[in-house]
Amino acid sequence: MNGQASRLIELNKLAGLGKKDSASKIISVCSGKGGTGKTFFAANFAYQLSRVNKKVLLIDLDLNFSNLNILLNQTTTKTISAFFSQSEAMEDIVFNYSNNLDLIFGDSGRSDYPRVSREILDYFFVMLRKIRDRYDYIILDSSAGADELVMRQLMKSDYNIIVTSPEPTALMDAYAVLKLLIEDESEAERFVIVNKCSDADEGENAFINLSTAVNHFLKEHVELLGIISYDSIAHKSIINQELLLNFDPQSIAANEILQFVKRFITITQLANNNQSR
Ligand SMILES: Nc1ncnc2c1ncn2[C@@H]1O[C@H](COP(=O)(O)OP(=O)(O)OP(=O)(O)O)[C@@H](O)[C@H]1O
Ligand SMILES: [Mg+2]
Repeated sequence: MNGQASRLIELNKLAGLGKKDSASKIISVCSGKGGTGKTFFAANFAYQLSRVNKKVLLIDLDLNFSNLNILLNQTTTKTISAFFSQSEAMEDIVFNYSNNLDLIFGDSGRSDYPRVSREILDYFFVMLRKIRDRYDYIILDSSAGADELVMRQLMKSDYNIIVTSPEPTALMDAYAVLKLLIEDESEAERFVIVNKCSDADEGENAFINLSTAVNHFLKEHVELLGIISYDSIAHKSIINQELLLNFDPQSIAANEILQFVKRFITITQLANNNQSR
């Protein structure tokens, strides 16, 4: 057996470790359409989980245009590209943001950004599984679209949270991602967030349209995690490079995020209880 083949077998064995038997959850936030609010949601969601005493690692895995660092107004020289180019170990690119919340930043606009292959992404997951037990939740903010790498990332996660909006184009793209996941027999659990809604009815109707299409055409089920209002304060928090939960904790969108963080914790705790039986 040549060296590369035996290395891949070794990697696959390691990749199998801890996929289902770990209490720690790997969650990919994705969308299909760009600009639906993935990064905004992922950052505030991660932060709230950390504030209720969960250990959280948030990773900017948007390999096209990373911008979590801008959203959080942070600078660091150690980014995920150093890991991909194998000049840094995963542990060494982790940045402590606040109590219970660690981050791994990406960096965009570099001409020498290492091209991420399937093998490198697999290696990333192997290394992630090695450190996963330090965290309750590991959240991966993804690129828009559904290219091979994004789909592979979603398949390797325990949960996929698809962030969409009530616009038909965003719903159509969310449906396309769900279709690919179902066709590929993904075992990841699927949840939907409908963001930027003018009111709850608009969000519910958008979700009903999406889930009806999934039930009817794909014979599968998808669950609503929550609806987030279009909130001009959310927009202002981004302009100010602050988390909405700090910028205006009383805002409508902040309160909505708090509600479904509670729900998500309950869902994952139930999954852990079932796992340990
Ligand atoms: N609930 C909201 N209310 C108002 N504006 C919002 C809300 N959520 C997101 N936005 C706006 O949408 C823009 C895009 O958000 P964000 O960058 O999080 O999207 P994204 O899905 O990560 O985009 P990309 O696909 O480029 O990674 C933000 O700049 C923000 O102004
Ligand atoms: Mg983004």
